[in-house]
Amino acid sequence: MKVLLVTQTRNKKGQAASTEQTLVTDILRIGRGTDCKLFLPDPRIALHHAVIRSAVDGACYIEAETGTVNVEGSFERAAKLRENQRILIGPYEMLVLPDRKDFDLVLCVELIEPLREGVDEVRSHVKAGLQNTWLSKRIFSWSLFAIVLAVFLGWPVLSAMNQPPPEQRKEAVKAASVTPDASWDVGPLASAHASFGRDCNSCHQQPFVQVKNDACESCHKTIGWHFPLKTPVAKEIHNTIFPDTRCASCHRDHKGPNGLVRTDATLCTDCHQDLKSRHPKIGTANISDFTKNHPGFMLSILQPGKTGEGAIVRVPQDDKAKPREASGLKFPHDIHLSKKGIRGPDGKVNMECANCHVRDEAGIRFKPVTMKDNCQNCHSLEFEPKVTSRQVPHGKIADVVDTLNEFYAQAALADTPIDVVVEAGIRRPGERMSETKRQAALTWATEKAGKIAKDLFEDRVCFVCHQITPVAAAENKPATWQIAPVAVTQHWLPKSRFPHSQHNTFECSKCHQVTDSKVSADIAIPDIKNCRECHGGNEPAKDKARGTCETCHGFHTGSHKAGVPAIVPGSNMPKPALKQVSSDAPGGGAKQ
Ligand code: HEC
Ligand code: HEC
Ligand code: HEC
Ligand code: HEC
Ligand code: HEC
Ligand code: HEC
Ligand code: HEC
Ligand code: HEC
Ligand code: HEC
Ligand code: HEC
Repeated sequence: MKVLLVTQTRNKKGQAASTEQTLVTDILRIGRGTDCKLFLPDPRIALHHAVIRSAVDGACYIEAETGTVNVEGSFERAAKLRENQRILIGPYEMLVLPDRKDFDLVLCVELIEPLREGVDEVRSHVKAGLQNTWLSKRIFSWSLFAIVLAVFLGWPVLSAMNQPPPEQRKEAVKAASVTPDASWDVGPLASAHASFGRDCNSCHQQPFVQVKNDACESCHKTIGWHFPLKTPVAKEIHNTIFPDTRCASCHRDHKGPNGLVRTDATLCTDCHQDLKSRHPKIGTANISDFTKNHPGFMLSILQPGKTGEGAIVRVPQDDKAKPREASGLKFPHDIHLSKKGIRGPDGKVNMECANCHVRDEAGIRFKPVTMKDNCQNCHSLEFEPKVTSRQVPHGKIADVVDTLNEFYAQAALADTPIDVVVEAGIRRPGERMSETKRQAALTWATEKAGKIAKDLFEDRVCFVCHQITPVAAAENKPATWQIAPVAVTQHWLPKSRFPHSQHNTFECSKCHQVTDSKVSADIAIPDIKNCRECHGGNEPAKDKARGTCETCHGFHTGSHKAGVPAIVPGSNMPKPALKQVSSDAPGGGAKQ
């Protein structure tokens, strides 16, 4: 059987278009199944709906495979096909066209009830639907879009662009239960920042612009860069190695309570192990591990009499350089720490380190040793053996000289029956003094004061601890003395941290050999070999304390972890808070 199949379709305006197809088959099966020659893809058609076959009489017959077919309005199980006959198969209409040459049958098929109309019919039975409201689908989606845009983009952007001054802004943020930019939050901020985190503008100063360093530095005013940028070379090195570095490149924030500070072990060594190759002017050695190639320490020693940065000299702590400390003060540890004890005002005492070296509040270092607190008890500043209640002030030469002049003049003139006056043989008690005698008394007093001063400055009291040089009399100026300035170094290793509090369990003598030291010029600060006895390197080692770079160093100058910068006399450097920080604890906090 050879069938010509004309498939008719219509566009939206109802204009017809048709395609023709030749089917050669014994049986023309009609249905939704893929094995059907006349394939009608519609859910309302059965898989095998009907078949057409030619009979021995030469005519063609249609037979329903399931149910019936609608032939010219009547439902039949089978029917003979005739010209111009209309057969409905589900939503399709099949028209038998007049025979054509070479074909046994010519059929025209058209979908006359497309599926949509069926669905619409179903929908018409359902009450709720967008078309039942005043909204059209399009208006609805556009308005939804506009609302989302306004709430999540417009509001935040507008509020970011029209900011009140910072103080008002902070208040407003505190008061508001929802802030405009809350929906843009990308994750919880570090706990240190959580308290003001809702005020996004404190870091994100401008919308759609990356966080700028200025924003961070507006609060973190004292945090410095990685090394001091005081010389042009240091600046040049910095600009080569940290070009346009943003704080946020290391402190990304929004990474949870402890996510702000980088703790990756290789942060330091990645750069420091081949530091020298990064800039020709870098003098610092390549360092990859504390136990392997960390250079010996440099001691920072104060120069008495100098102020500002020039007051510190850095000297390598090795046997060749043999650094000495010229503090201007005389002090032998050995006499004072003698096992036999030393004479005090109330007999012999055995002194300990703690008699003179008292912990500071943070336990990191020791309070400066002072004459008043640590020495004067034994080294009194009495000057007149017969008057033990009077001492000269501990201070300027001129004040000492004034005190002496005043004391002896008073003794000579006033009505005080003390031996000195008798010794001078000038006046008897109760006797009125003549002018000649008065002048003689004053001359005696001046001479006596001068003699005592010379004694204090050149032989006894002050001389014991200070280096004092006589200054000859000059025009209009009497002879006097000069005391060498005193500057006792306290920050020997300012580029690293060293908390005494974390070495409490060790004897002082484990690190400081002072009991045989005869002069204050001796230095008893432990060297790198001492640290290596207990501290390991990058890898955790058995029987060793931690020794990664950040055990002893921080990244920023001015950070608590980086050690406290040396306090220099006369510099206007802010004195950093001596806060105890362990590198285990997440951060020591910012100074504001
Ligand atoms: C303490 C400072 C700080 C505060 C406060 C802050 N952020 Fe951030 N935010 C950052 C930093 C740092 C980045 C890292 C982006 C960069 O490289 O500039 C960042 C990144 C983002 C990003 C981009 C995400 C990405 O991966 O780059 C969005 C969005 C953002 N913050 C939203 C907010 C919102 C919203 C708030 C207020 C609820 C807020 N931030 C408060 C510091 C802050
Ligand atoms: C190359 C990475 C890097 C960059 C860039 C960087 N930091 Fe740091 N920062 C660190 C590391 C590592 C620490 C932890 C060690 C320390 O405290 O020095 C730290 C610690 C801090 C601390 C805590 C200090 C303390 O005393 O507890 C603050 C505050 C800080 N950084 C602020 C900043 C600011 C502000 C900037 C930008 C001007 C910045 N950082 C740029 C790596 C970096
Ligand atoms: C991107 C490279 C880089 C990284 C990362 C880096 N440093 Fe440095 N560091 C330098 C440079 C450059 C110098 C200056 C050397 C010079 O001037 O000779 C320096 C100097 C130092 C100094 C001497 C500081 C001073 O005051 O003179 C110490 C200590 C130090 N780094 C330790 C660290 C530690 C600890 C880390 C990890 C937290 C670290 N560095 C990460 C490049 C880096
Ligand atoms: C009588 C007071 C006194 C006693 C006791 C004393 N010191 Fe000192 N110490 C000083 C004075 C004063 C200086 C400053 C000397 C100078 O450099 O001018 C000093 C300096 C130091 C220094 C730093 C300078 C250096 O020599 O390296 C160390 C370390 C030190 N003492 C350790 C000790 C130890 C450890 C003990 C106990 C075994 C101890 N001292 C006992 C008064 C004392
Ligand atoms: C417990 C009492 C006592 C205290 C406290 C004390 N000294 Fe002495 N000091 C002595 C005695 C006693 C001598 C004399 C020892 C001798 O000559 O045998 C002496 C001697 C000295 C000498 C001279 C040593 C010499 O070679 O002749 C100096 C310098 C000195 N002390 C400095 C200090 C300083 C500085 C302090 C305070 C940090 C101090 N002393 C605290 C008792 C003390
Ligand atoms: C037992 C030792 C001792 C004796 C004695 C002593 N001093 Fe001092 N002097 C010190 C110490 C320790 C310091 C540094 C700490 C301080 O100021 O207390 C000092 C500091 C000074 C300073 C400040 C120096 C500077 O550059 O800052 C002057 C000035 C001074 N003494 C004068 C005197 C005079 C004058 C006498 C005698 C009357 C005297 N001292 C006796 C121990 C002594
Ligand atoms: C594990 C080794 C170690 C032990 C133990 C130790 N120190 Fe130190 N000490 C140091 C180092 C390192 C420095 C230099 C620190 C610096 O400059 O930051 C120092 C510095 C000092 C200084 C001079 C700086 C200052 O703050 O005045 C004194 C004094 C001192 N130590 C006394 C003591 C006394 C007292 C003890 C015992 C209670 C002691 N040390 C135990 C290692 C040690
Ligand atoms: C006698 C052994 C010993 C010696 C010597 C010693 N340390 Fe330590 N150090 C320790 C121990 C133990 C700890 C505590 C380790 C810990 O808490 O993880 C420690 C802790 C520290 C810390 C604090 C680490 C932190 O996590 O906060 C620093 C910094 C440090 N040492 C530096 C030094 C330096 C610098 C030297 C040499 C001058 C030195 N230590 C010598 C045993 C020693
Ligand atoms: C046990 C403590 C400790 C460890 C661990 C440690 N350092 Fe140091 N480092 C010091 C001390 C102490 C100094 C001398 C400080 C000074 O000069 O004021 C120092 C000095 C430095 C200097 C300055 C050298 C100079 O003379 O300018 C650099 C750079 C440095 N260390 C880098 C590192 C690096 C990188 C690591 C990790 C591989 C590291 N350190 C590990 C204690 C340590
Ligand atoms: C409104 C002020 C403010 C701004 C802006 C700010 N911070 Fe902080 N930051 C703080 C305070 C407050 C702390 C906690 C101080 C403390 O713990 O002592 C802190 C702590 C830190 C710490 C130490 C956290 C820790 O866990 O150790 C780092 C690192 C830090 N800030 C970096 C930054 C960076 C990077 C920026 C810029 C993106 C920034 N901060 C912006 C106020 C601010």
